[in-house]
Amino acid sequence: MKSSSTSKFLSRKQSPTTIALYIIFIFAFSIFIFLFNAGNIVEDQRHPIISHESRSQSETPPLSPFLQIADEELWGAPSSHGLHSCVKPTSKYKAAQGIGRYLTVKSNGGLNQMRTGLDKRSFWQDSSSFSDIFDELHFITTLQGDVRVVRELPKELELVPRARKHFTSWSSMGYYKEMMQLWEEHQVIHVVKSDSRLANNDLPLDIQRLRCRALYHALRFSPPIESLGKNLVDRLRMRGGRYIALHLRYEKDMLAFTGCTYGLTDAESEELRILRENTKHWKVKEINSTEQRIGGFCPLTPKEVGIFLQALGYPPSTLIYVAAGEIYGGEARLSELRSYFPNLVFKENLATEQELKAFAKHASQSAALDYIVSIESDVFVPSYSGNMARAVEGHRRFLGHCKTISPDRKGLVRLFDELESGEQRGDSSFSYLIRQMHKNRQGARRKRKGPSPGIKGKARFRTEESFYENPYPECICSSKAV
Ligand SMILES: *[C@@H]1O[C@H](CO)[C@@H](O)[C@H](O)[C@H]1NC(C)=O
Repeated sequence: MKSSSTSKFLSRKQSPTTIALYIIFIFAFSIFIFLFNAGNIVEDQRHPIISHESRSQSETPPLSPFLQIADEELWGAPSSHGLHSCVKPTSKYKAAQGIGRYLTVKSNGGLNQMRTGLDKRSFWQDSSSFSDIFDELHFITTLQGDVRVVRELPKELELVPRARKHFTSWSSMGYYKEMMQLWEEHQVIHVVKSDSRLANNDLPLDIQRLRCRALYHALRFSPPIESLGKNLVDRLRMRGGRYIALHLRYEKDMLAFTGCTYGLTDAESEELRILRENTKHWKVKEINSTEQRIGGFCPLTPKEVGIFLQALGYPPSTLIYVAAGEIYGGEARLSELRSYFPNLVFKENLATEQELKAFAKHASQSAALDYIVSIESDVFVPSYSGNMARAVEGHRRFLGHCKTISPDRKGLVRLFDELESGEQRGDSSFSYLIRQMHKNRQGARRKRKGPSPGIKGKARFRTEESFYENPYPECICSSKAV
């Protein structure tokens, strides 16, 4: 969404207008999350359809052939323990009432972070408006019991002076009450920027439920996106029944930014270093790639993903949908994953050129397709824990019937290095270690994690598990509760 797109909101009464503020924040942040992730997804990739026979001798993986792992362990969803999603307001909830006050929001969606310093092709170039990406009418009607959303300010308010405001990350309720007071003097508050973080914890239950209504009920993709997305899922099902959706983060700019050069050639490492050097707004210039990697801060390489999935016991015939931007190193690097799993599929393999044409110039719409296919997948595996991975994980946890395997990158890297040095042989005990390591990383419903101990001040908020990654307990209840 371009910064020019402005959404207008009206809330109806003073007292619970904080609710209105909240929802706008949620809305704005949802878009941010979405755009931030989508930013790296580049259109126009073409990947050949690969057959089962494409595995060449020279690329034979170091691991022994896959083990016989029970179907349930590979594909079964974690137990739901009788829990179900819950988004209804409590009896105490009062929706916002009209007071003739408005809030306008500019969705800036991580554009600035993306724009500068990246290579031309992964620039964020997307003029999509809210209604191009989301079903606007559905959004407005779904939330009408909570807040009134309008497309335009009333004529008489178009020129009135507006209070300008930034949302402040991690704010408690007090902040919103303060902000509401602005409405006593101004009919319109304009929010200039929306990529702030809503606090994860210590908010009223009804506000948290409202977040879930906004995120999981009100925000639906626009009909053309939903329809093609569902078609892609159907076509995947026709090919192989079950599939893994792999969110493969391995784009040039993110590798340059994180300083992760493991497995790259010297020339590639140097190219990334220069890109980082020349990108002004990336503050950290000197990065020890080895330390980054052993700290678990690097995305898994395509090859590492191959070893990982094989060790988990997935057979080479497994159908894998790759949700990804442009892979650094291109087809050559991707072939390191293909040698383990030849059945890699991209949306370009599933949809006709004609079908994708409408999306080709719109990175965010194209990413929306990946989002749909990822949500619907039997197993979702992110190679890196970015915003998109977290949003998909949270959504799947909310839906409750799906498995999400989050790689323990720090632990894995240690084992991969032992494999490299010969301390590990890629045998069944290696597989056992990796399966044990991920026993509790399957996207099961569990309470959201609090901040890391020992961290003080605002920094601790960053160490919390995000609400959108895990809306338990507020929006996931036992059968007895509402
Ligand atoms: C990077 O860190 C590793 C591990 O701590 C160390 O062995 C290596 O010497 C460091 N490299 C540089 C160039 O500082």
